[in-house]
Amino acid sequence: MFLKELSLRNFRNYIELSICFNKGINIFIGENAQGKTNLLEAIHFIHSLQSFRTQEEKSLISISFKDALLSAEAERGGSIINVSALLDDKGKRVKLNGKKIGKTSEFLSRLFAITFSPDDLFLIKDLPSERRRYFDRAILPHSPSYLKTSARYDSILEHRNRLLKDIRDAKKGADTAALTPWNEQLIEEGTRILLKRHQFVEQIKPFLEKFFQSISKSSKRPILIYETQLLPPLRDEEALSGVNMADEIKGIFRLSLSEKSREELRYGHTLVGPHRDDFQFLIDDQKAKTTASQGQHRMIILSLKLSEAALYKEAFSEYPVLLLDDVFSELDEIRAEALIEQIFDMDIEQVFITAAKKESVPFSNKRCSFYLIKEGTVRPY
Ligand SMILES: Nc1ncnc2c1ncn2[C@@H]1O[C@H](COP(=O)(O)OP(=O)(O)O)[C@@H](O)[C@H]1O
Ligand SMILES: [Mg+2]
Repeated sequence: MFLKELSLRNFRNYIELSICFNKGINIFIGENAQGKTNLLEAIHFIHSLQSFRTQEEKSLISISFKDALLSAEAERGGSIINVSALLDDKGKRVKLNGKKIGKTSEFLSRLFAITFSPDDLFLIKDLPSERRRYFDRAILPHSPSYLKTSARYDSILEHRNRLLKDIRDAKKGADTAALTPWNEQLIEEGTRILLKRHQFVEQIKPFLEKFFQSISKSSKRPILIYETQLLPPLRDEEALSGVNMADEIKGIFRLSLSEKSREELRYGHTLVGPHRDDFQFLIDDQKAKTTASQGQHRMIILSLKLSEAALYKEAFSEYPVLLLDDVFSELDEIRAEALIEQIFDMDIEQVFITAAKKESVPFSNKRCSFYLIKEGTVRPY
């Protein structure tokens, strides 16, 4: 897929912009605070209907304006897709090929972008909840029903927690028997989440290793691990696939709930389930969180993004658009070149990269299109 045209009105520091893009690698050069990240944010928004920087969409509207309009023409599998999003104080209204769409999930199967932002570097050291959020989002394009599963799980969890507190506080009508149906629902939806996360991590693993080694020019092995108490010990993968594995998880889940039941009643809180899980990156069996260098963190996250793009391609026979914000800063020349070579090798249809200086980008005009960003304007460079 690729973006052909983008128009912005009152989006961040772009009061009026209309621009056509080429396939291949597009590079936005500009000094600080000129609008490079804003432009990537707009492109990301058009592909996913959300910002990668903020949940507060009002901040996307240019200061002292009431609304913002983004519109774009993209191509996917030979068909043209038109998207527009109007943002105002009532929220956002999105049209896909001229027709209003309600839910973001309806959109996920149409356009998609994978974005690297320097903020993603916190992922490895952040709180588990941030990692869960990251991976849960990454699973979505591969499993649109995951959104509903997660919402159902959250709602069951909330009910169950309230009931645990009521039993602890000996509220009228609240007794442990009332927990049974909630336990079963928690196990049912929780198992779905566990399976999806496990499957996603297993699919990412080989890509992560390949891309990490290629762009870091190292033979070290990175591994992504889904940390949970509820998966059966890894044996022969085949023996564990499908129904088998779901049943095993449910068994472990049920057992853990009964083991923790006293403790849960004491705390008034659900202590077992995928809401307690985490994801861990290792390099050569060492926890990246505590032992890897800053540079290795960068390499892991960049490899993760490329892996997500490769997995998407495997599933949908097309790459998503790849957006890399400020990717060359703090990357030495060898690794910057290796990254670019890897991107050329993958033959991703369209990539957008920002950089402060043209000199920091290790390739020539022949291989990519350069644009100069200055105070909310864009022109070929
Ligand atoms: N809602 C907004 N309205 C107008 N200007 C904005 C808005 N949000 C951010 N900006 C401006 O955008 C600029 C930062 O743009 P950004 O794309 O982050 O810069 P960079 O080129 O360094 O990536 C700042 O000058 C900031 O004031
Ligand atoms: Mg920036």
